[in-house]
Amino acid sequence: KTGLVTYDPGFTSTAACSSAITYIDGDAGILRYRGYAIDQLATNSTFLEVSYLLIYGELPTRQQLDAFTNRISRHTLLHEDLKRFFEGFPRDAHPMPVLSSAVSALSTFYQDSLDPHDEEAVELSTVRLMAKVFTIAAYAYKKSVGQPFLYPDNSLGVVENFLRMTFGFPAEPYEVDPDMARALDTLLILHADHEQNCSTSTVRLVGSSQANLFASISAGVNALFGPLHGGANQAVLEMLTRISDVEGGNVDDFVNRVKNKEQGAKLMGFGHRVYKNYDPRAKIVKEQAETILKKLGVNDPLLDIAMSLEEKALADDYFVERKLYPNVDFYTGVIYRAMGFPTKMFTVLFALGRLPGWIAHWREMMSDPQNKIGRPRQLYTGSAERLYVPVGQR
Ligand code: SDX
Repeated sequence: KTGLVTYDPGFTSTAACSSAITYIDGDAGILRYRGYAIDQLATNSTFLEVSYLLIYGELPTRQQLDAFTNRISRHTLLHEDLKRFFEGFPRDAHPMPVLSSAVSALSTFYQDSLDPHDEEAVELSTVRLMAKVFTIAAYAYKKSVGQPFLYPDNSLGVVENFLRMTFGFPAEPYEVDPDMARALDTLLILHADHEQNCSTSTVRLVGSSQANLFASISAGVNALFGPLHGGANQAVLEMLTRISDVEGGNVDDFVNRVKNKEQGAKLMGFGHRVYKNYDPRAKIVKEQAETILKKLGVNDPLLDIAMSLEEKALADDYFVERKLYPNVDFYTGVIYRAMGFPTKMFTVLFALGRLPGWIAHWREMMSDPQNKIGRPRQLYTGSAERLYVPVGQR
C-alpha cells in the first residue's frame, strides 16, 4: 500500500500512507472530499453533512443525517469536573494549548470509549468529539475574556450552538446571526480535511501506536498550532495589522523585505507544500470575505491591504517563479475578525473545521493495520562508531 517513491534530490522516501478520503492535485488546484469537489460542497452542503461524508465515506440520507445530528447534540455537555479544568489555566493562556489539554483529558472522563477496535467505542468517541470540542473551544474563549460559561442549547445546530456559547451571556438572550452562522459553516467545510498535512499525519502517526482517538486528536491540535501550519491564519492577521499600523498600509516596503528575506520575513498565508497554484479554498474564502463583511456591515481596511498584497505578489516574478499563491489562511482571519473572534481564536476555528478530517483518517488507519505511517526510517548522518573516553582524558 505504501511504495518507495524517489524524489529529487535523488533520495528515496516512502509515501506516508494510502487514503481514500481526500484527493488533491496541487498543480491543477483540485481538492475533493470522497470525490466531491470542494466548491460544490462549500456551496450546497453543511459542515455536519460534510463531516458525515468524510467519516463514513458517503453523503448521508436525510435519516442518517438526522440521526448523526441527534447523536451529536446529546453529547455537547462537558463533565462538571472537566469544566473545572478551565479555572486552572492562566487568563492569558492561548486557547490552543487549552483545547489540546481538554481534548486529551476527555480520555480520562470517557474511559468506556477508548478501545480503538471496539466499533461502538469508536462511534461513541467520534460523536463525543464532534460535540464536545465545540463546547471546549467556546469555553476556552470565555475563559480568555473572563466571562461566565453558557451551557449548550441542544435545540440549536452545532455552529449556532458554538456561536451562542462563545458570544452569548447568561443574563440575556442571544440571537445567532444566520449570515454569520452560514459563513462559519462554510469556512468549517473548507477546513474539514486536506489529506496528509502536518496535523493529520500527526493524528495518524500517534494513532498508529493504538493510542485512543482523544489522545490522537489532541496531538493533531498541537501540530496545527505551529505558525507554518494552522497558526498561519493568526500570523496573517498580525502581518496585516503590522502593515496597517507601522507601514501606513503601504505594502511595497513589506514585499521588498520579504523578497530580501529580511529577518526571515515571509508573506504569511502564501505558499503551500502541495498547491503550486491558487489554493481552491482561498478563492472561496476571498469571495466569502467580501460578502460577509458587507452583510455584517464591517468595513475592514485589513481586507483592502490583503487584496493589494495579493495583487502585488501575483504580479511579481519573485512569487510567481516560486509558485507562491494565497492559501486557505490568507483571507480567513479577516472574516473571523469581522465575526468578533480575537486573533488567538483563529487557529482554534481551524481545528474545529479539521476535526472530522482527523477523525476520518484515524478511523481509516485503525480499520487497516497495514496502512499506517508507523515508524518512519531516517538517513543517518552522524559519527561512525567510536570508543568511550573517560572524562579525565577528554
Ligand atoms: C496550511 O499541508 C497542508 O495541506 C496545510 C494546509 C491544510 O489545510 O492542512 O493547507 C494548511 O498549513 C497552509 C500553509 C499555511 N502556512 C503559511 O501560510 C506560512 C507561510 N508559508 C510558508 O511557510 C511556506 O509557503 C510553506 C511552509 C507553507 C510551504 O513551503 P514550501 O512550499 O515547502 O516552500 P519552501 O519552504 O521550500 O520555499 C520555497 C521558496 C523559498 O525561497 P528560495 O529559498 O527558493 O529563495 O519559496 C519561499 C522560500 O523562502 N517561500 C516564501 C513563502 N513560502 C515559501 N517566501 C515568502 N513567503 C512565503 N510564504
